Amino acid sequence: MCGIIGYIGKQKASPILINGLLRLEYRGYDSAGISTIEPEGLVVMKDKGRVKNLYNLKGIKDLKGTIGIAHTRWATHGKPSKENAHPHQDNSKMFSVVHNGIIENYNELRILLENNGYKFYSETDTEVIPNLIHYYFSKDTIEENNKTKFLRAVRNACLDLQGSFAIEVISSLFPENMIVVRKDSPLVIGTSDDEKYISSDIPAILSYTRNFYFLNDLEFAILTSNSVEFYDTNLNKITKSVQNIEWNASAAEKDGFDDFMLKEIYEQPTAIRETIGSRISTDYSCDIEGLNFDKNYLNTINMIYIVACGTAMHVGLSAKYAFENLCKIPTQVDIASEFRYRNPIINEKTLCIFISQSGETADTIAALKLAKKHGAKTIAITNVIGSSITREADYSLYTHAGPEIAVASTKAYTSQLILINILIIYFAQILGSCNDSLLLDLKKEILELPKKLEETLKCDTQVKSFAQKIYQEKDIFFLGRGIDVATAQEGSLKLKEISYIHSESYPAGELKHGPIALIENGITVISILTDSKLVEKTISNIQEVITRGAKTFVVTSQKMNYNMFDEVVKIPETNTFLSPILSIVPLQLLSYYISKGKGLDVDKPRNLAKSVTVE
Ligand code: M6R
Repeated sequence: MCGIIGYIGKQKASPILINGLLRLEYRGYDSAGISTIEPEGLVVMKDKGRVKNLYNLKGIKDLKGTIGIAHTRWATHGKPSKENAHPHQDNSKMFSVVHNGIIENYNELRILLENNGYKFYSETDTEVIPNLIHYYFSKDTIEENNKTKFLRAVRNACLDLQGSFAIEVISSLFPENMIVVRKDSPLVIGTSDDEKYISSDIPAILSYTRNFYFLNDLEFAILTSNSVEFYDTNLNKITKSVQNIEWNASAAEKDGFDDFMLKEIYEQPTAIRETIGSRISTDYSCDIEGLNFDKNYLNTINMIYIVACGTAMHVGLSAKYAFENLCKIPTQVDIASEFRYRNPIINEKTLCIFISQSGETADTIAALKLAKKHGAKTIAITNVIGSSITREADYSLYTHAGPEIAVASTKAYTSQLILINILIIYFAQILGSCNDSLLLDLKKEILELPKKLEETLKCDTQVKSFAQKIYQEKDIFFLGRGIDVATAQEGSLKLKEISYIHSESYPAGELKHGPIALIENGITVISILTDSKLVEKTISNIQEVITRGAKTFVVTSQKMNYNMFDEVVKIPETNTFLSPILSIVPLQLLSYYISKGKGLDVDKPRNLAKSVTVE
């Protein structure tokens, strides 16, 4: 949530900061602001609303400072307003701070500071930070006025903070420096010879550099334009090496598409091809670099938990079928925010798999820490190299989907699905838990899927014209059986988040136990039918809604009498366990075109943010 950007170099900072904010807007878009170090001291400019409001502020183009920090906000404490927008300053305007995350003890700190004469002008938790830095800076009696004193003040302030934070600090007293630190909230430092770029997200600064430093929790970096020094909490110097990121800058551009979401839907064949990579080779061997599990270990696993949020959790729902059927290991799927508070039974025989596109989702990371504490082995599936989740998990497996910018997750979902299925095949192969011909068939199908996904995308025009018929509806239902329930849930989530249409998803057989009461003349019911064993049963359930006047949209790989439905999207046939990778595509496109039909901002839906780094 919220986007942070920072620049320290030889160029004017403000255009770089605004450009970075525009790229980061998908993380939050309630208000935006920047602070630069000008000859007369720190200047702060901010406004409510989108970055374009900030860009249009009088005077912003006159800023000349070559060091600056900036922020786009997703409101937590305090409504979206100019006063609550970042950067925030201490009372003497000596320090400017931008912050992502939540300071849980801000009230306590605010009282402490108020008792020491500090005044507050916003409703935010963040405003305690610059004042706390000032408090420690002014109380520091060591006779020096150098960057070490600046660093000490920031460190002392951070030690008082409970919660999560990624912070950038600049000071009028130290016009050559910037200090950054993070705890449970992402922050990366991009580096080139005489320029440094700081961001909460790699794609926002990819056009400037592909060389990055990654900070661990409570590591401090003090930057000049041509140096970065790292310190631990005790202010001992530490060394870090630069990591090169393979993503190219154009991957974070729209490349002629109207929206990132549509571009990312169309990138899926490439994304899954990259994710498969050499994990399944043309001779049908399956190997996962970085995993060295043997049969003895796999035989000890008595429970697999797949833990994630939102779309990533739906990957788990699909994978459960394959884990149980192919590996014969009981598998449970948990929403991360629930998992961490329900005292799950975890021990050293438990394997926990955490799925997160961003690798920064606070609930997922907290669940991972809990699993480790109880002795479970942990695997992270993520798209972002160096993300927080990879630092916590025992093993990290990367999807290679490239940066996903649209808030609605699409290519990350299908890449996660393919990767987890490869993991399942890898387990089943070692365990010998299912027959070789089925495994061979699955491997062959996986290698065919990029082409089948390309084929599936041809439904675009058909789906678009159906979307134009239903975009004004108020309620839409999604049905499926077996593995198609997971796709129904994901289709329903996609629709809700970008079209704001109320929607429900149900196992088709459950409909008659209550929800069918909501079916009335003209309502749209979307059904997914990919499992030949269940297709007849689902058709019977669809008949029940047709009888009650529903309009039906069917996504299927199966042969049937299409005439009984209003619209049928035929997708290529594949193994049932892999079918969600194809069946979701028409539903992604449907949500996209409904959202477009309503004239909404597809990439930045209201109230949402791309990466949810608060609990
Ligand atoms: O980065 P993560 O995969 O951990 O994010 C989890 C969810 O917040 C995310 O999938 C969310 O549900 C998407 N906006 C769905 O499109």
